[in-house]
Amino acid sequence: MDASISPALISAFEVQAGFCERLGSPFNAALATAAAEAMGRGDGLEGLLRPWAGLSAHEIGEAAVTLRLLGACHDLALSGEAPELAAAYPAPDRDGDPQAAWRIARAAMAARRGRFEAFLGHEPQTNEVRRSAVLLPGFLTIAQATGLPLRGFELGASAGLNLNWDGFRYSLGEHAWGPEDSPVRLAAEWRGPPPPLDAPVQVLERAACDRRPVDLTDPEQRRRLLAFIWPDQFQRLAAARAAIDLALSRGVRVEAADAAEWPAGRAEPRRGAATVLYHSIFWQYLPELSRARLAALIDTLGRTATADAPFAWLRMEPPPGELAHIELRLTHWPGGEDRRLARAHPHGAWVEWTG
Ligand SMILES: C[S@@+](CC[C@H](N)C(=O)[O-])C[C@H]1O[C@@H](n2cnc3c(N)ncnc32)[C@H](O)[C@@H]1O
Repeated sequence: MDASISPALISAFEVQAGFCERLGSPFNAALATAAAEAMGRGDGLEGLLRPWAGLSAHEIGEAAVTLRLLGACHDLALSGEAPELAAAYPAPDRDGDPQAAWRIARAAMAARRGRFEAFLGHEPQTNEVRRSAVLLPGFLTIAQATGLPLRGFELGASAGLNLNWDGFRYSLGEHAWGPEDSPVRLAAEWRGPPPPLDAPVQVLERAACDRRPVDLTDPEQRRRLLAFIWPDQFQRLAAARAAIDLALSRGVRVEAADAAEWPAGRAEPRRGAATVLYHSIFWQYLPELSRARLAALIDTLGRTATADAPFAWLRMEPPPGELAHIELRLTHWPGGEDRRLARAHPHGAWVEWTG
């Protein structure tokens, strides 16, 4: 076996193929299988995976090596630099040809080694717009309970696409919310009673941080964000593209900062508004110490809240040990009452609302 490949790497691609198949990306499943088969035949993939060849299966999973390579192929297909590869990728009006895509991508790994190497150096980073369909009913609940305009502070916001949650049009089962002419259309299956759709929503202020924000004004970073979306998931791609355009037109900015520090001096409750600190699929990335510090900071902010300066902590995160669904939880001050509002799909495909 080529020294830059290991059995653990081959196995990671086989396992990834199974995930992609189950999670609705037969194209990436076939591409991952083709990669595993090539490596199994002794193909060293130009040494591109050498940095991870000595790692355990767990470490390879943690480093998301498979998603890096699948993302690198998709990125080249999206770039306009490889029309033959792009033609082998799926589109809403045609199935892709994963065997051809692998063959062309494999040749490109040799011809454009530096490009692949540079892409593989990036830890996958995503920004899932449909998570706004899970957060929205939380914001509506806060707006209804307080009757006040909102100030939103997002932690771990990535590119900041979900900062514009109130600018999207939602279809939540038979319920709809948001500007009818919004270019960002999000649909989620809705289970349970309706959320408070009539709550008055006005956003006075919005800000966000990420330890490594995606800069949407940089075309390469924009494309990389799309490249990590699986190529046959057209609705996710379309929503991300539309949300990127909206964010660019509104000049969305995400501050580079550690979320354990950032809210202090920014997100203090203010009279005449409901201050909302929120996040989605972020908590698990915080080291233990940062979690404790942030939880203590949130508690301190909450304790300074009053009836005319309320404070809310809204989060969409998996309950401990759970991967298949997430919970939307709200803690509301004054009082600090904590409750689960919903269970939902991690990408917002369905919402089971209890409110
Ligand atoms: C899985 S992404 C989710 C992004 C976005 N919230 C969403 O739902 O699409 C997790 C994000 O958390 C950010 N992150 C992780 N640790 C962080 C920290 N200590 N401070 C700020 N951001 C952090 C990462 O950079 C990444 O953008």
